[in-house]
Amino acid sequence: EKSRVSLDCICGHISILSSIYTKFLCVSPQTLLSEKVGQMMDWASKRAVIRLNGEKFRRFVRAPPRNYSVIIMFTALQPQRQCAVCRQADEEYQILANSWRYSSAFTNKVFFALVDFDEGSDVFQMLNMNSAPTFINFPPKGKPKRADTYELQVRGFAAEQIARWVADRTDVHIRVIRPPNYAGPLMLGLLLALIGSLAYLRRNNLEFLYNKNVWAFSALCFVLIMTSGQMWNHIRGPPYAHKNPSTGQVSYIHGSSQAQFVAETHIVLLFNAAVTLGMVLLHEAATSDMDIGKRKIMCVAGIGLVMLFFSWLLSIFRAKYHGYPYR
Ligand SMILES: *[C@@H]1O[C@H](CO)[C@@H](O)[C@H](O)[C@H]1NC(C)=O
Repeated sequence: EKSRVSLDCICGHISILSSIYTKFLCVSPQTLLSEKVGQMMDWASKRAVIRLNGEKFRRFVRAPPRNYSVIIMFTALQPQRQCAVCRQADEEYQILANSWRYSSAFTNKVFFALVDFDEGSDVFQMLNMNSAPTFINFPPKGKPKRADTYELQVRGFAAEQIARWVADRTDVHIRVIRPPNYAGPLMLGLLLALIGSLAYLRRNNLEFLYNKNVWAFSALCFVLIMTSGQMWNHIRGPPYAHKNPSTGQVSYIHGSSQAQFVAETHIVLLFNAAVTLGMVLLHEAATSDMDIGKRKIMCVAGIGLVMLFFSWLLSIFRAKYHGYPYR
């Protein structure tokens, strides 16, 4: 293999002298390219995501000639690395790679690969990379540009988002096909069955359906879930929190208004719920016919809850939306 590479370099010179020598003695760049493409196709036929170590990375991604793009996930999947985000991202990446591999549009234009830190730490060093997972597109010609690094923090690692970025960088449009997931429908069915049987058991006494509090509470839960950004999480699939690899500090709040962590939505949901509880207490204090002492306590507790949690909400907002004037 080594001699072939060095032959390659002198090939150009020899071919000027004699095209016959080129034909019989040298491996022309064209032959090398088709061998590389053939090898990549061979690997891709075995598994949708090709595993590269340092040597393979240099030969099939770094070194020219190349006429294919390689999307690489740099990751740390070994259990002792304790990278939970890596495993989640890997699942999505496999879904995307499989969608491409088994699509009728599959060509040798784009390959999906991964470099694990424990198999290719030299590659991490060479690229000066210190966080995982990272997705980089290596275009057929030239070095990766800025936009060839996927903005994981902003876009999350849902397969659909990565597919959009891949389409952007390589012009290959991949329709993500997820393996069917029966858990959702099953849960819904169970819930409906439960409600149905409850209603059947209490068919003579359906009073609870007219209970205002039950409806108010359900509506409130729905509103809290929707306003805290669970739907965004569902679509974008952001990480739960971010651990800074160099300082070991964990941040639960994303520093920009363009993105959020799952932990952040839980915090916001909790704070919104506390503000709401404070409001309900204030309302009860004003309208209920309990004795005056209890109502005073409710009033003070309500004001406390609203003030405390609303200020915390504001400071989270300030941290994300730089330049917001109020505190
Ligand atoms: C790249 O080059 C190889 C060898 O010439 C060829 O078989 C393959 O189709 C080319 N790929 C693309 C995407 O043009």
